[in-house]
Amino acid sequence: MTPFSFPATRMRRARQAPWVRAMVQAHELNASDLIWPLFIIEGENQKAPIESMPDVFRFSIDLAVKQAQKAYNLGIPCIALFPNTPANLRHDDGREAWNPNNLICRAIAAIKAKAPNIGIMADVALDPYTQHGHDGLIENSEILNDATVEALVKQSLCLAKAGADMLAPSDMMDGRIGVIRTALEQNNYYNTLIMAYSAKYASSYYGPFRDAVGTIGRLKGDKKTYQMNPANCVNEALIEAQLDIAEGADFIMVKPGLPYLDVVSHLARNTNMPVFAYQVSGEYTMMKLAFAAGALDHKTTVLETLLAFKRAGASGIITYFALDVAEILRG
Ligand code: PBG
Repeated sequence: MTPFSFPATRMRRARQAPWVRAMVQAHELNASDLIWPLFIIEGENQKAPIESMPDVFRFSIDLAVKQAQKAYNLGIPCIALFPNTPANLRHDDGREAWNPNNLICRAIAAIKAKAPNIGIMADVALDPYTQHGHDGLIENSEILNDATVEALVKQSLCLAKAGADMLAPSDMMDGRIGVIRTALEQNNYYNTLIMAYSAKYASSYYGPFRDAVGTIGRLKGDKKTYQMNPANCVNEALIEAQLDIAEGADFIMVKPGLPYLDVVSHLARNTNMPVFAYQVSGEYTMMKLAFAAGALDHKTTVLETLLAFKRAGASGIITYFALDVAEILRG
C-alpha cells in the first residue's frame, strides 16, 4: 500500500505560491550550462543566413570573434565551431582537416586572441572536408574504420595545436578516443579535453546542420554503418560511453537531444562522468517554425525544453538557442 494518502498528503500544498515553489525546486537552468555552436565561412564581414535554420548564420572569422565575445559576456562558457569548407578544398582523403591554416584553425586562433576566456570546442570528423560528406575515408563503398582513425589523429593534433580547448570526435569510428588521447599525451597536449560524441544516432534531425556545413547535396546514402540505430536499447549507448570513458574521454555526449532523453538519463545514472546533450539542428528548426507560426511561445518553450535536459541528468546542453537563452536568463 502506498504510504501517501489524501487528504493527509495534498501535493498541491507545495505548489500554492511562488515562494514555496521556489524553495522546493530541484533543477535550474543557467547560462553556464550552455555550449553554443557557430558555423564559420571564409571572407570578411560575412553573415550568411542558413535557409533551413531561421536566425542562425554562418559567420566569417572576424564576425565570429564578435559573436564569441558576446557569448562570453552573457556567461556562456564554451562555443563549438563548425566549418563550411570551400568546395575546392574538399578531397576524399580529408587532407584539409589537418591543414594548420584551415578555416577552423584560423578561427580558433582569432577567437583565442580576442576572447581568450571562452572555451573552444572543435569537432573531429571528416565530413566538412570530404567530397562525399561522410565522416570517414571510403574504399569500395566501405567507410574504413582504422584508416579514418589515423586521419582523425592528424586532425586532432592540428586542432590542439591551433588552441582548441576541447576536441569533440563526432565521427563514431571505433577506438578513436583512445588513439587520439594517446597522441595528445605524447605531444604534450595533456590538458586538451575530449568530449566524445559517445551515443550518436543515425538521425533524420541532422538535415539543417548538413545544409549549414554544405554536405547536404553531397551525401549519398546514410551513416548507418557508423552512427547508432535509433531502434536499439539504451544499453548499447552505455557500452559506447564506457568504451569512450575507458579510452580517455573527459565528457560524454548524447545526440540528438530531446528525442533521446531516455539515453541521456541512462548514461547520467550509470556513468560517473558529466553527460552532455546536443539539441541538434532539426530540433531547433522544428521549434523555430512553431514559434513563427504562433503555435508555441518562444521564451517559455525553450526554457522548459532545456530544463528537461537538466532533469534527465545532463550537465550541459549544446544548443543553437544558447545566446537567446542567455539573454532571457539575464532578463
Ligand atoms: C558531423 C556532425 C553532424 C552534426 C554534428 N557533427 C551531422 C552528421 O553526423 O551528419 C549534427 C549537428 C546538428 O544537427 O545540429 N560529424
